[in-house]
Amino acid sequence: MASRAAGVTEFPRTALDLHRSRTSSLGKVTAKRAIRVLGLGGSLRSGSQSERALRIALSGAEEAGAVTTAVTGEALRLPFYDAGVSERGELAVRLVDAVRESDGVIVVSPGYHGALSGLVKNALDYVEDLREDSRPYLHGRAVGLIAVAHGWQAAVTTLNQMRTIAHALRGWPTPLGGAVNSAEVKFDEAGGASEERTERNLRLIGRQVAEFGLAQRAAGFGDPTHG
Ligand SMILES: Cc1cc2nc3c(=O)[nH]c(=O)nc-3n(C[C@H](O)[C@H](O)[C@H](O)COP(=O)(O)O)c2cc1C
Repeated sequence: MASRAAGVTEFPRTALDLHRSRTSSLGKVTAKRAIRVLGLGGSLRSGSQSERALRIALSGAEEAGAVTTAVTGEALRLPFYDAGVSERGELAVRLVDAVRESDGVIVVSPGYHGALSGLVKNALDYVEDLREDSRPYLHGRAVGLIAVAHGWQAAVTTLNQMRTIAHALRGWPTPLGGAVNSAEVKFDEAGGASEERTERNLRLIGRQVAEFGLAQRAAGFGDPTHG
């Protein structure tokens, strides 16, 4: 993952990004460039468990051949989305551009009072700025969704809300969603989880996002502007 300022990364613009040929469960797929998967979410808290869950899911996407980038932490400290103004700050522009360039997205939120956090919802509100795009909102993109809460109830209700939002944004929620109970599972700094099954599921969500992108492209439905 390429990194810039805290919490802000961009998709790599290297040779790796071009003319890839790889094998997935969909068979041999020759792509003009790697599938791009954007990770979005987490909390502002140092050592955010939800951000760590996101990193694991992104590594699953990378294992499936995707290049990834993430908008997390301070990069999500955006003004409340205002549909009445057209000017956007630097962070908002980067976020919207990262969504625009993506072939698939993984969104992770902590459960706050049984719902997704305001920080993550506000970031998702900025997807409204893609309404006039050739691929409006999350059109044609798989959306991996992961909720991390200190109990099952909020983990599940938050995941359900995120699915509803992904549908509203015209995205395709992956078959597997992540409901993580942070009272039972801990994510470490090194990118691991205390429970192997959780780690496996998060990686699988990332893989499903990348593979949907490959399938879309194989069917001729990829981003026409990205070749
Ligand atoms: C404002 C706030 C509200 C929360 N509400 C809930 C809740 O309703 N149910 C729950 O299980 N956990 C709740 N939690 C706990 C978080 O979901 C949990 O600690 C999560 O792992 C935090 O993610 P983070 O480490 O990425 O910040 C809340 C935490 C905060 C700060």
